[in-house]
Amino acid sequence: MLGMRVVRSEAELGAALKTARGARESLGFVPTMGALHAGHIALVERARGENEVCAASIFVNPLQFAPSEDLSAYPRTEEADLALLSAAGTDVVLIGRSEDLYPPGFATTVDVARVTEGGEGAQRPTHFRGVATVVAKLFGMFQPTRAYFGWKDMQQCCVIKRMVRDLSLSVTIVPCETVREADGLACSSRNRYLDREQRAKAPCIHRALCAARELFRAGERRHAAFERLVRSHLEPDFVVDYLEVRDEEDFARSADPVTGGRLVIAARLGRTRLLDNLPLAP
Ligand code: PAF
Repeated sequence: MLGMRVVRSEAELGAALKTARGARESLGFVPTMGALHAGHIALVERARGENEVCAASIFVNPLQFAPSEDLSAYPRTEEADLALLSAAGTDVVLIGRSEDLYPPGFATTVDVARVTEGGEGAQRPTHFRGVATVVAKLFGMFQPTRAYFGWKDMQQCCVIKRMVRDLSLSVTIVPCETVREADGLACSSRNRYLDREQRAKAPCIHRALCAARELFRAGERRHAAFERLVRSHLEPDFVVDYLEVRDEEDFARSADPVTGGRLVIAARLGRTRLLDNLPLAP
């Protein structure tokens, strides 16, 4: 078996994909911003298992960071990332560079309406334009059969699915369930910002969502009851940005009574924002 090809430009990528694909039909693609953890690797393993060729990208996309967000502080762990991708069976990985993905004259952005309202869209108004634009660009470059995203970023999954449908892109989006640490904390590149004390407190988010799911399964349908219960499980130093039940397809906010969907939370612990969600129905 050939080793993993690491490429750093669009031209090199084209050649590497041509060689890797040969006569093979299906390509599974996992776009990432690096700082890889078990959640990313689960996506790669799924892509590996469901496709003949498996590809990934590492690109810290400046377009999805607001000027107030520190792009230069985003963790960059290229060597460790490449070792993980190689061990998980990736055939081709692109290390993206801004000057290659957004060359001089680049003038196109992708705006997905409605699905981007509320949630992260309200907190970070230009974020999803950056995400949709880079993912559309990467889909153009990789031409994948399937692309894999984690449910942890639920709104991102909904935005990408909407974009693919609206623009008739020929790729199947495969959302994959959140991978968790042993204590329930959702794997995230942001977890590395938590200090010891915060790390010990962080899993209460998952415990809170599980308690709400139990309440739903016991017959509760009032949004306010879920909200009360979740807040009662959170450590006092959490600041909740939003806590809502949202639909898995279009991220529409659930009315009362709640009939299903995912309970989504974004909460700050110190300077770290943690995101998580859980489907309510079995
Ligand atoms: O989820 C991420 O890591 C990023 O938003 C993505 C999809 C790689 C686009 O930059």
